[in-house]
Amino acid sequence: MDQGKKSPDLVQARAEVVRLRAEIQHHDRLYYQDASPEITDAQYDSLDRRLQDLEALYPELVDADSPTAAVGADTDSRFSNAPHSRPMLSLANSYELAEVEAFDARLRKDLGARLEREALSYTVEPKMDGVALAVRYTDGKLVMGLTRGDGKNGDVITNNAATFREIPSVLAADWADKFPTAGVSSFEVRGEAYLSLSRFQTLNVERETEGLEQLANPRNATAGTLKTLDSEEVRRRQLSVFFYQLFPLQAGAGVEPEAAHEFPDHITEMAAIEALGLPTNSFLREAVDAAELETHLVELEGLRTSLDYQIDGAVIKVNSRDLQNLVGFTAKAPRWGLAFKFAAEEAVTRLREITLQVGRTGVITPVAELEPVALAGSTVSRATLHNWDEMERKDIRIGDQVVVVKGGDIIPKVLRVLVEQRTGDEVQVPQPAECPVCGEPTSRAEDEVALRCLNPLCPAVLAGRLRHFASRNACDIEGLGGRSIDLFLETKMVQGPGDLFRLKQDVVAALPGWGDKSADRLMQSLAQAKARPWAAKVFALGIPQVGVSTALTLARNFKNMAALRQATAEGLADLPDIGPIVGETIVAFFASEGGAELVADLNDVKFFRDEEDLPPPEVVVTGDNWFAGKVFVLTGTMESMTRDAARKEIEALGGKVTGSVSKKTDCLVAGAKAGSKLTKAEKLGLEILDEESFIKRLAANQPDGE
Ligand code: IVH
Repeated sequence: MDQGKKSPDLVQARAEVVRLRAEIQHHDRLYYQDASPEITDAQYDSLDRRLQDLEALYPELVDADSPTAAVGADTDSRFSNAPHSRPMLSLANSYELAEVEAFDARLRKDLGARLEREALSYTVEPKMDGVALAVRYTDGKLVMGLTRGDGKNGDVITNNAATFREIPSVLAADWADKFPTAGVSSFEVRGEAYLSLSRFQTLNVERETEGLEQLANPRNATAGTLKTLDSEEVRRRQLSVFFYQLFPLQAGAGVEPEAAHEFPDHITEMAAIEALGLPTNSFLREAVDAAELETHLVELEGLRTSLDYQIDGAVIKVNSRDLQNLVGFTAKAPRWGLAFKFAAEEAVTRLREITLQVGRTGVITPVAELEPVALAGSTVSRATLHNWDEMERKDIRIGDQVVVVKGGDIIPKVLRVLVEQRTGDEVQVPQPAECPVCGEPTSRAEDEVALRCLNPLCPAVLAGRLRHFASRNACDIEGLGGRSIDLFLETKMVQGPGDLFRLKQDVVAALPGWGDKSADRLMQSLAQAKARPWAAKVFALGIPQVGVSTALTLARNFKNMAALRQATAEGLADLPDIGPIVGETIVAFFASEGGAELVADLNDVKFFRDEEDLPPPEVVVTGDNWFAGKVFVLTGTMESMTRDAARKEIEALGGKVTGSVSKKTDCLVAGAKAGSKLTKAEKLGLEILDEESFIKRLAANQPDGE
């Protein structure tokens, strides 16, 4: 347990566990789904460790749904899903050499007498700060590219994987000879996709001239690029990859690992990846003890700034596969591996100015304008100061020398002020009494840290709302970037989203920077905006506290705008994921002058339809259904239905299907020729159904009782 914190009693612990889980899930969403984390990896790990400590202290608080038992998810509904051949896990993190020593000591203890027969050695390689990618080849041909997803199922991005120069579509004819045994027909390589720093800079220079928004950092750009539907754009970005895992897959089924053909150790595995013509990182060192490990870690950290890609640490692995298998895995990570994270890079620079930014909800955020400084592979000239409480707590003033950090891929942040370097000329910036954009008085609610401009006609608020309305998850209006919005607002052609649909092609085409072609394109995307899915339209309204998933819930439960406007707070609070506070916020939005006007204006331009494009209904889970709430794994082949059909049947009855067997699995459905999953399920003592009993169970649980 953390030295600084004393042990809480059960009641306090339960409250803290609930809070930590929500907080970690929030950060998981930001990291994996939105690719825009708000905290450093080290901060994340300290939340995670505290939760683990509390769960260890009070086992009654352990829950299968806790983030400590799961790997974060980044699945995206625009791509189809496929199961991973084996779970894509994460690695335990360490920040101090003492933790590396403890890792070595623990392994030596766990392996005990076995080490008399086989010496323990480790490998050290860079921990790429990129995005995990799995690629499968069958008969020498590229057949699938998969993202991490939730670790069990990933997004199928084969077309995008095929755009990498380093991922050949067809391998050299003698590819199968690179495996230790004959007869391999299919295999998977896993690694990390990344954007080189030089390519990242070139892309940003190009984007600057094209008036496009700058890519925030290489990792986010990689995540975004991999999830781009337009493969030609992906090709243009020129992503790179380093692979660090290679394993054969079972012939035929193609998704089960084939243990018999595994490589004997990591170094041989890496050599085989290279022999196949696939890229590996050239830094791979072997160490026989903690002292040697440390030498290599120090060497790699020294190289860090000379590399053309970002690394955030080193990965230490037990070299021998047999020893790896002996120590095994936890639910989240292998016990044979450890990530050693380098310290977040820091830089010192002068804070030139504090500017104020007004967002679409009217929140005013102070922003530090910095003397540009090189930090973790990019130049930093701005950093958010969050709010006035935070600024006062850190006593940040104009003219200060400040320490800025960027942990991994975080938006730069002012860590602290070098108070000892003050000259006396530094200037404090008080909370403004007026909105810096419209001049109306600002206001701050008693229990909030946010300072707001409450003027619904404030140009900054209008611009923010229009940007939100046009954004990808909302109306996805191509060609309506920040600059065009500012121009439309300045010329008073547009005051709110409804006005966008009143724009005339010829008027837009005549504006500075516009022409016939771009105006046509805008008209086209505006027409398409009206046909967006109903959930996207709900999200586009920008109702406070209604994100993409709440918008989906609303769209599922109200068939059109007429119905949604009549929702009551009580009715809303009964819906999944919507509590009384959000329910009231939604009702208040439609009752407010601004909300009512927005809806009326959008009705006027026929944005809403009586029959909207409804989302698929959520599965209704009935309490007495044997399948409801259970987690299934399907394996082997069934005669009477495909696995996909079986999955749909299970899901229709409220069950869940995952890709790999674990303690969380309730039942394994084993068709003919089931392999390792069956063995594992037996070992864990799980319920196992053969095809016949599965079909009988399905029939017995149909809603009409047939
Ligand atoms: S090996 C079972 N090697 O870091 C996990 N991972 O935090 C084995 N990563 O999921 C992964 N560089 O996405 C491995 N040289 C490297 C890596 C690496 C980056 C990523 C990978 C992994 C994550 C774990």
